[in-house]
Amino acid sequence: MADVIIPQIDVHLGPDDLDAALRADLREGLTIAPKDLPPKWLYDTRGSDLFDQITRLPEYYPTEAERSILLAHADDIVARTRAETIVELGAGTSDKTRALLDAARAEGTIRRFIPFDVSETFLRDAALLLAERYPGLEVHGVVGDFDRHLDRIPQGDRRLIVLLGGTIGNFQPVERKEFLSDIVAGLQPGDHVLLGTDLIKSVARMELAYDDPEGVSAAFATNVLHVMNRTLGAEFDPSHFEYVARWDHDNEWIDMGLRSRREQAVHIAELDLDVHFDEGEIMRNEVSSKFDTEVFSDELAAVGLDVVAWYHDDDRDFGVSLSTVR
Ligand code: AVJ
Repeated sequence: MADVIIPQIDVHLGPDDLDAALRADLREGLTIAPKDLPPKWLYDTRGSDLFDQITRLPEYYPTEAERSILLAHADDIVARTRAETIVELGAGTSDKTRALLDAARAEGTIRRFIPFDVSETFLRDAALLLAERYPGLEVHGVVGDFDRHLDRIPQGDRRLIVLLGGTIGNFQPVERKEFLSDIVAGLQPGDHVLLGTDLIKSVARMELAYDDPEGVSAAFATNVLHVMNRTLGAEFDPSHFEYVARWDHDNEWIDMGLRSRREQAVHIAELDLDVHFDEGEIMRNEVSSKFDTEVFSDELAAVGLDVVAWYHDDDRDFGVSLSTVR
């Protein structure tokens, strides 16, 4: 049997860069009107743990729907792409991706797996576990940011770029187009992109998935106040905010944020900033866009990606598109 290959990890985003990016992002998000915080700062250790709990809630259908799709269609994805390198953006623990890796190993096509993530600690742990699970597979982690480091993804033949979970839904349309164009810019004709997208469905089900009665979604969103208190010496009192998650018909996204229960000023020591909130003012945490498969296929075509297959779960709650670079 092949030996375990010790993972190589490229770090383009060290703790100091992360800290500087966090400060700059949060300063901007707190000072623009309306207030709008970038979702990537929701995932500190506690935030990642709360998100993990969300994925196991009965109301939060995307995770299991996507898992069932990958299990059912991994063989087809591998057969169509014959990928030698699989790159997973926002890899986390690459839990669902194992279905793909298992299939690609069985076919003998894959040589290398590249998990890409902002969190170095998570990435190191995950890379080592994957290398042990798949002897002979070269695991080459990249610690970076979607905005700045997509061009650091190692080159190679027959690459498949994967972005799961509906994470593409965190982008607003203009940024989404830029992000997809950036991905395509680093690929060659015939390379593939696999994207998980949550689909538009009944408003009641979508809202419940993002505002569960157990309050896990609310705890996840509210955690950003703890992140700012800890990292920026801010003085947010979480009890002065309430979580709101609403379907926005025009933009076709779930809009998530924290509503100030009162007029208040919050001091943020390390930004040397006092932030004012009106009573009822909403500070956005993230949006989660939902998609129509035909509209999204056109969006992909506009950046040079031709859809070769759409895969769905039995209930058609979620869609995974496989596209190829023209
Ligand atoms: C990780 C962005 C895919 O939008 O469904 C879940 C994040 N936020 N519940 C999503 C999230 C609140 C999630 N993504």
